[in-house]
Amino acid sequence: MSKEVVLTGLRSNDEFHLGNYLGAILPMVELQKKHAGEYQLHMFIPDLHSFTTPIDHSKLFAQTIDNLKVFVAAGLDINNPNTLIYRQSYIPAHSEMTWILNCFSYFGELSRMTEFKDKSSKSDSENISAGLFTYPVLMAADILLYDAKWIPVGDDQRQHLEFTRNLAIRMNNKFGKLFVVPEDSPKQQKFSNRTESVRIRSLRNPDKKMSKSIEDPAGTILLSDTPEAASKKVMEATTDSVGVVHYDWEKQPGITNLMQILDLLNNSAGIAKKWEGKTSYGDLKTEVASAVNDFMRGLQSKLAQIDEAKLIKKLEKDEETMSQLASAKLLKVQQAVGLRPKAIKH
Ligand code: ADP
Ligand code: TRP
Repeated sequence: MSKEVVLTGLRSNDEFHLGNYLGAILPMVELQKKHAGEYQLHMFIPDLHSFTTPIDHSKLFAQTIDNLKVFVAAGLDINNPNTLIYRQSYIPAHSEMTWILNCFSYFGELSRMTEFKDKSSKSDSENISAGLFTYPVLMAADILLYDAKWIPVGDDQRQHLEFTRNLAIRMNNKFGKLFVVPEDSPKQQKFSNRTESVRIRSLRNPDKKMSKSIEDPAGTILLSDTPEAASKKVMEATTDSVGVVHYDWEKQPGITNLMQILDLLNNSAGIAKKWEGKTSYGDLKTEVASAVNDFMRGLQSKLAQIDEAKLIKKLEKDEETMSQLASAKLLKVQQAVGLRPKAIKH
C-alpha cells in the first residue's frame, strides 16, 4: 500500500521573521525528521496564494527561492526521497482544480471564514480581491489533489481545513469516492503535536504577535537583520514593572516572550526556567540577545553556503513528479463532473 500523505505549505509573500522560523519552519523540519520514511511528505510553497493581498510583485520570484533556502538552512534534507518540495504555480492542475471546486463551494461558507473577515476588514471594500475570498478553495485543491490525510497547520488555518473536509465529503457524496477526506481537527492536532501553538510576540508590543505587518519594525526580528541589529532589538524589548521574572503570558508577556525565545533557540531544553524568580531583567535580556546573535550568525552562514542550483534542480524534479500525480487526479474529477469521457471499463 502506498504511504499516507502529509502535506503542508508556507506562504512566501514576504521575507521571514523569527516568529515564522520558530513557529512554522522549525516544526516543519521536525516533522521531516520524525516522519520521513513512514509517510510521503509534501512541503510546498503556495506561491499563487502570495498575492491575495497586495505585494511587491518584483520581489516575489526571488523571495520564493530565498525562503526555501531558509528551510534548508534550518535543517530540511532535500535529498530525502520521501520529501517532495514544489511550487504550487508550477503545477497547473492546482488552478484548474480550483475552478471546479469553486463551483461546489458556497458563498455563505466562504463568507464565514475568519481570516477573510479579518483581512478584508483592514482594507476598503474596493480593494478586497476575489482571490482573498476564494483563498480557501485553492487551499482545498492543494490538499485534495494529492489525497493528503495529514495537514499540520497552525490554529489560524484550522477553519480552512474544516472547509476542505466539508467540500471533499460533499463532492464524494455527489460523485462517488473522488477524494481522501483529511482527518478532523482533533486528530490533526494530535498528529502534529501542536496543541499549544507557538506564538512569538512582538518585542515592542508583546500583546501582539511578531509580524511583518505590524508597524513597529523594532518589534520584529527579520532573518535578514544583522546579528547586531537583532540583539539590539532584544536589549530594547518592552518588559514590565513587576521587577521579578515569572513565566506568565497574562501579566508579563514581554518577559515571558523572551524566555520562550531562549527556550526555543536552545531546542526547548528548559534553559529559561533558571530565570524564574530572578530580579535582573537586564541579565535575562543579555542572555537572550546573545542567543539570538549566535542563532543569526549560524543561520546566515548556512544560508550563504547553500547550493542554489542543486535546490532548483530538486524543485524541478519534484514539480515534474507532482504534475503527473496531480493531472491524474484532475482527470478523475473532470470525468466525474462531465468534462471528459468516463474511462472505459474492460
Ligand atoms: P505574518 O503574520 O508575519 O504575515 P504569516 O501569517 O504569513 O506571517 O505566517 C506564516 C506562518 O508563520 C504561519 O504558519 C504562522 O502560524 C507562522 N507565524 C507567523 N507569525 C508567527 C509568530 N509571531 N509566532 C509563531 N508563528 C508565527
Ligand atoms: N493557507 C496557509 C497559510 O496561510 C498556506 C497554505 C496554502 C496551506 N495551501 C495549503 C497550508 C495547504 C497547508 C495545506 O499558512
